Amino acid sequence: MAGQIPQRFIDDLLARVDVVEVVGERVALKKAGRNYSGLCPFHQEKTPSFTVSADKQFYHCFGCGAHGNALRFLMEYDKLRFPEAVEQLAARQGIEVPREGADDPRAQARERKRQEGVNLLELSASFFRERLKMPEGQAARDYLARRGLSPDVLRDFGIGYAPDDWEALKHHLGQRGVPEPVQVEYGLLVHREESGRTYDRFRDRVMFPIRDVRGRTIAFGGRVLGDAKPKYLNSPETPVFHKGRELYGLFEARQASPRLERVVIVEGYMDVVALAQFGIRNAVATLGTSTSEEHLARLFRLVGEVVFCFDGDRAGRQAASRALETVLPQMIDGREARFLFLPEGEDPDTLVRREGAAAFEDRITCASPLSEFLFEQASRGRDLARVEERERFASQVLKAAQRLPEGVLRTVLLGELSRRTGVDQARFEALMRRQDEASSHLAAEESPRAVPSLGQPVTAEPAGAGEVSQAGGRVPLGPVARVVQLLVHEPALIERLPEGDDWYPSEEADSELCRELVRLLRAGRYRSPQVLLAHFQGSETGQRLAALARRELLIPRETRGRELEGLIAYLQRHRQRQSPQEELDALLERERGGERLPVEARRRLMELLMELKG
Ligand code: UTP
Ligand code: MN
Repeated sequence: MAGQIPQRFIDDLLARVDVVEVVGERVALKKAGRNYSGLCPFHQEKTPSFTVSADKQFYHCFGCGAHGNALRFLMEYDKLRFPEAVEQLAARQGIEVPREGADDPRAQARERKRQEGVNLLELSASFFRERLKMPEGQAARDYLARRGLSPDVLRDFGIGYAPDDWEALKHHLGQRGVPEPVQVEYGLLVHREESGRTYDRFRDRVMFPIRDVRGRTIAFGGRVLGDAKPKYLNSPETPVFHKGRELYGLFEARQASPRLERVVIVEGYMDVVALAQFGIRNAVATLGTSTSEEHLARLFRLVGEVVFCFDGDRAGRQAASRALETVLPQMIDGREARFLFLPEGEDPDTLVRREGAAAFEDRITCASPLSEFLFEQASRGRDLARVEERERFASQVLKAAQRLPEGVLRTVLLGELSRRTGVDQARFEALMRRQDEASSHLAAEESPRAVPSLGQPVTAEPAGAGEVSQAGGRVPLGPVARVVQLLVHEPALIERLPEGDDWYPSEEADSELCRELVRLLRAGRYRSPQVLLAHFQGSETGQRLAALARRELLIPRETRGRELEGLIAYLQRHRQRQSPQEELDALLERERGGERLPVEARRRLMELLMELKG
């Protein structure tokens, strides 16, 4: 990866570009008073509720709540990641993006390599697509038609055909200047050591390009037209393709709906494509491997909910258990995982054809939530009327709960366990706490760079201040408090925050503290927890911050960045779900009810009043 982009550069860049221009190139805008307005590109609408303000350099949709600056717009509309959006904005200003540590020659070589591979793979993908249309593609076209796929779906997924020829692609690429060793490296050409000969890997197969999230082809899967073995042939691991990381169909799913909320994980290429054919365009497939932590991390960055889809047989159950184990540590608040079991002998492809889209959607809707699947699994084959069996049941659930991050799900799970076993919830919580402590001490000893010890607060403050300062009093924290907690333990995480500040909820007590903390960290001073605490010392917020700092972080260091991103995504989604009018109404309601609103909420109230009434 290239180095970090300096924040100062981003600020300068934003000061130079005009959001009205950037949006105006993609959405028809009309001047309306001081602002511009048009039809919102992020949701379906007939009357414009999308506005762009030249003064504030923001866009805002009163219908769906989409909101942000020029960078955010590019990320959402062009589906770019943050650095890519920066590149694009910089390019239109004719300036180059500086990178910290960009003179690393190895990083540059890697980037060149990536570019080279991607070009070659794109060339191959269009070669396969062309061949499908030619006379030699007739049998493949018939096969795809028999499987019920329409030209539209073939186009959306870029499906093609590798001709029945040992050297067709090799010659095609050779004529375009791609050396054979490069073709071999990217898995298109096979090199026989003994004879020294080379030949096309994919022959007489229907070709599925595997694309990365930006839509660049990174590998292929090829299916035979008949029953020959192997049924599917995949690209080997290459410099750009790592099987355990990629998901087939993710790019296409994001293209199909800009506000993807849920993804269904299935097994095969054909399942993804068949579901799309029936209008279910949010399926993705792992590539013949089980769902990995990396797959899930990637998905949860984009959506709040994943539904795992399994065969109804024994193998399916086992796969589901593995998926459960993998997903547990990632279940921070706001995320949802569900388990769908299909009738034996069916896969999503056969089922959606037999039952139709609506019935399949119903199955998705009714899939078991994680907790239900967990309880079902733990009680399977056990007679819970017997004490010993109940004990084993409880241990199994506790073991799983132990792997969950602290949060609402964990608490609810223990509550349910207590209901089912008749054991007091507090007992379970005490048990968990003991194990938590044991494992976090272990982690601290094992980690070469242990977390700075915050056990001894720098600020001398009375014990008992703040809700969490009683030793071990584990009141679950809200999402904003958890953001603060992460940042105070590890200020460097500020780099992982999105550049906008459209995620602070108005109703949370810790919002103001969070906002101030972020402001300080972004300003680039205060990079150590102690100095941060000192800055806030003596105020009420300072006490709260100290309490959060003392509270041990139980999340392993490697996953903290991801946790933070997940929390922010959750907060953003939560806010987007509420229209400004609804948000305003809710705030006014609280005020009328005699509540003294926190500063943050009052600030937001004023903002909304200006926006909606002004
Ligand atoms: P399945 O055998 O379930 O195939 O393999 P499928 O998706 O139902 O395919 P159709 O309907 O017969 O066309 C599921 C997935 O396992 C991987 C592929 O990713 C496939 O989509 N697989 C399977 C292979 O990589 N190689 C194989 O030979 C078979
Ligand atoms: Mn199938």
